[in-house]
Amino acid sequence: MTKEVILTGIRSNAELTLGNYLGAVLPMVQLQKEKHESYDLHFFIPDLHSFTTPVDHSTLYAQTIDHIRTFAAAGFDLNNKSTKIYRQSFIPAHSELFTILNNFAYMGELSRMTQFKDKSEQADTVSSGLFTYPVLMAADILLYGASWVPLGDDQKQHLELTRDLALRFNNKFGDTFVVPHEWNKQLAFSHRDSGVRIRSLSNPTKKMSKSVDDPRGTILLSDTPEEAAKKIMSATTDDLAEIDFDFEKRPGVSNLLQIESLLTDQTVDQVLASWKGKSNYGDLKTAVAKSVSDFLKSYQEKLSQISSEIVEAKLADDEEFLNDQTTNLLLQVQKSVGLRR
Ligand code: ADP
Ligand code: TRP
Repeated sequence: MTKEVILTGIRSNAELTLGNYLGAVLPMVQLQKEKHESYDLHFFIPDLHSFTTPVDHSTLYAQTIDHIRTFAAAGFDLNNKSTKIYRQSFIPAHSELFTILNNFAYMGELSRMTQFKDKSEQADTVSSGLFTYPVLMAADILLYGASWVPLGDDQKQHLELTRDLALRFNNKFGDTFVVPHEWNKQLAFSHRDSGVRIRSLSNPTKKMSKSVDDPRGTILLSDTPEEAAKKIMSATTDDLAEIDFDFEKRPGVSNLLQIESLLTDQTVDQVLASWKGKSNYGDLKTAVAKSVSDFLKSYQEKLSQISSEIVEAKLADDEEFLNDQTTNLLLQVQKSVGLRR
């Protein structure tokens, strides 16, 4: 029996942050541990999606490899037999399917994507790549018949569009694509219903993001432990002088408690038991700064042991295999739309 496919990708548009690590890297490592026996796992870097927002093209290639090294340093097993690791641009079928699907996606539905609206408002110029980004994402998913797509909540509309495109195509041409499960099932499947969202340290009503220029508010995985500790010590809090977990009234303090809980493998309640009601934010910051710098020391040590060569060899193997495998589905689609006999 063929196994269901779990597929997810993380963009390599910028260096990864502590937010990406806690909200995407660790859950992915966990998912591999939990599910590799019963599912096929696809983990890929959507490198063609990198420059829908501004990017340093001169570092992009190395950054893609480094992202995969980060996953390996966090415990993701590169040699796991059920896991395929690859780059989108190395498998041309992604782009071919994208070109075909573009003709079945509507301007109206793409214009309603909130991520397109948000990102185009922030940009001086808006590329058509940003506009059609969700169609390429749909191609990424449908090409491998993925049922499960672990994603952050900002990607909900993109998953729904993928489902709509798959159903639209299947209705017109007969069963071609596996339709991924709906959003709520996806959340429960990947345990993302608990919704980890690390906030910016300088502006804790906003999320920490690799795509926003906010050096004081962002801890990069490449920061030295000392730099990172300093950022925690100068994190924005509030003037209520009473520690509690409440993202509405105390976003800064709650963010610190959340970081502490994830880095020390405790629940927020367990962390809160030692801090609730205390007024000295400095002590809390000192504790969190130590956890962050201890984490970075250990992570950076592990990262230094994972060579780019090992990663490139794994990628080359899996990309070769998948280039072969994807021709079947692509051919079926090409036949459906009348491009092949
Ligand atoms: P960014 O805003 O950092 O560029 P992306 O939108 O590319 O992040 O998301 C990459 C992955 O990291 C997604 O799975 C997303 O849910 C996760 N992620 C991004 N920022 C955070 C954050 N602040 N806290 C938790 N998870 C995050
Ligand atoms: N759009 C996703 C993000 O910004 C990245 C992505 C591209 C992706 N293609 C995908 C994620 C396919 C999962 C599946 O985070």
